[in-house]
Amino acid sequence: MNETIGVDDALEHIERLRHGETLTTEAASAVLDLYRTGRLADYQLTAWLATLAARGLRFPEIVALTRAYLGPARREGAATREGRTVVDKHSTGGVGDKTTLVVVPLVAALGVRVCKLSGRGLGIAGGTIDKLESVPGLKLEFTASELATRLAADDLVIGSLSGDLVPGDTATYGLRSVSGCVRSAPLIAASIVSKKVAVDAEAVVFDVRYGAGALLADRESARRLAGLLVRLGGEFGLRCRAVLSDGSVPLGTAVGNAVEIDEAISFLRGTGDRRLRAECEALAVQMVRVARPNEPEQRIRERLRAAIDSGSALSMLVRMLEAQGGDTGPMLGGDGYCRPRARTAVPAPRAGWITDISSLDIGRAALRLGAGKVRADDVIDPHAGILLSRHLGDFVAEGDVIAEVFHDGRDSGDAVALVSGAFSIGRHEDCRVPGEPEPVSEDDAHSHETGMIHV
Ligand code: URA
Repeated sequence: MNETIGVDDALEHIERLRHGETLTTEAASAVLDLYRTGRLADYQLTAWLATLAARGLRFPEIVALTRAYLGPARREGAATREGRTVVDKHSTGGVGDKTTLVVVPLVAALGVRVCKLSGRGLGIAGGTIDKLESVPGLKLEFTASELATRLAADDLVIGSLSGDLVPGDTATYGLRSVSGCVRSAPLIAASIVSKKVAVDAEAVVFDVRYGAGALLADRESARRLAGLLVRLGGEFGLRCRAVLSDGSVPLGTAVGNAVEIDEAISFLRGTGDRRLRAECEALAVQMVRVARPNEPEQRIRERLRAAIDSGSALSMLVRMLEAQGGDTGPMLGGDGYCRPRARTAVPAPRAGWITDISSLDIGRAALRLGAGKVRADDVIDPHAGILLSRHLGDFVAEGDVIAEVFHDGRDSGDAVALVSGAFSIGRHEDCRVPGEPEPVSEDDAHSHETGMIHV
């Protein structure tokens, strides 16, 4: 297939893919170009994505798709950079996952340069960019040269996908989110790795989350995706590591956009939930190790804790928000960014121990409240969300407030019912014990899968 194809050729290509035709960079680029120039409709690109997701791709095809996502300007891979290693991280997404907001300033406080290109919500998982958009004035869209300037000035930048940086991911990301094409290992890998190549990262840590409510059902699928991400990153010259983390229970206490920014700020002030701390620390350790392989892990952990205790990680976040034009008044004044129009308290239906909290139900509730999108034209409410007042293992009396639902004052009954149902309250103390974050190094992760790769 050459680059001057028409819509009819693209449709035949979709049919041939179904019958085993190999996906090439040229064919994928041609489809994406047709879409970008308005000749292919949303539903036709969605059909292509659904075909790729259902059929699976072989590793060389995933490389081809990643190159196509990058567009002609960047297909050759990462440029070499002078000076310190630039590290990036990327999570496959989870409910309450605000690790980027914590980890990026934290490792920057240890002198690691971070250039982070983040995404929006995908399915029920919130997106860092949607969260950061609740900071008034914050600039998140950058060209490649603006990203480089910000990085040179401040050593850290978080940006969103602008159309030109990774044209293929920009075209497909939102459509995948609203068409059931999210949970596909090849599509996830091409989407994530193309962004890392586009910002010329040299080293990346992937946070691969599993469990109901995350993109991967279980730890073994997460391990396979971690292997694929590391291998694909390596193909583009990136040094990669991964951490597997359990996403079956919401991470931390806040789920939404502004409410998660506020939780990240509290964390950097030193008041963090234990699991959030363990996951952030695991990621931060890997980010520092990938930049400075010779630094002993224990020393890194001590320096990370000191960066929180001394306030230097928080100062890094303030510096980044100010440099990107964000209003830090709500943060410095202590009131925070989350100002919902209405709040509904969710009472415990009975006395007992909280034995489980379903990420899936909490994520679905957040979507119903408008914290994410179920249709492409939905508008996100930055203040919508959920605050978990009680967590796993807590004992509650009947009627105790277990969560607060933040909404716009209109009917939130469905979301409140979902939040209430997300809590399992039992007579015994035994509660779900989420798996500890598990680091996967480049050597452990190497997958040599030669067949078709599915989730
Ligand atoms: N994050 C991304 O950027 N893309 C995916 O497909 C999944 C998570």
